Amino acid sequence: MTPSCYLFLLASSMALLLLPPVLPTIIQLRSGDDDIITETCQRCRDANPNVNYTLCVASLSADPSSHTTNLHGLAGISAKLVRAGVASMGSSILELRGKEAAGSPRRSCLDACTGVFSDAMVDLDDAIAAIEDGRYADAKTKMSATADTPVTCNDEFKEQGLKPPLERESRRLFQQAVISLAIISLL
Ligand SMILES: *[C@@H]1O[C@H](CO)[C@@H](O)[C@H](O)[C@H]1NC(C)=O
Repeated sequence: MTPSCYLFLLASSMALLLLPPVLPTIIQLRSGDDDIITETCQRCRDANPNVNYTLCVASLSADPSSHTTNLHGLAGISAKLVRAGVASMGSSILELRGKEAAGSPRRSCLDACTGVFSDAMVDLDDAIAAIEDGRYADAKTKMSATADTPVTCNDEFKEQGLKPPLERESRRLFQQAVISLAIISLL
């Protein structure tokens, strides 16, 4: 081996020696950042067994600002996730409505749901504003009303003996609202 080879090996092994103390620090920092999410979701699940812990951690972790926030920030993020879910399901319902014949029972159920979902958007905007202002009791009331949205829509169909549409989205949206309500309740 040439001297420059030795030098290279020496440099590489020194770099390796330096690495181990650095890596655990990075890992600790990362898990420290995520603690607020796992800890909050655990507290929510302890307070309400209907809270889907997996969905709680997954949905909050997906928002980059969750990692550098506090409980108040997480409540806002969770409410905005519910808002996105309501907006998306609301437009899917409008799309389905367009495919149904005028005067059909399905179409009238979808009409009723459209109303329920636009009321929910108003409730959610109120809930988000209430969280920002620290009016947590108001936020809870508005979020509770929102959690009923997919249920109320599904009931429209069940009363007519029809199969409710978008069952998976509907269940997920309900679970998101339950999670947001649980987080607001911790404030
Ligand atoms: C909880 O959420 C996860 C992730 O969305 C989902 O896969 C799972 O089915 C949910 N659990 C229940 C009981 O709905």
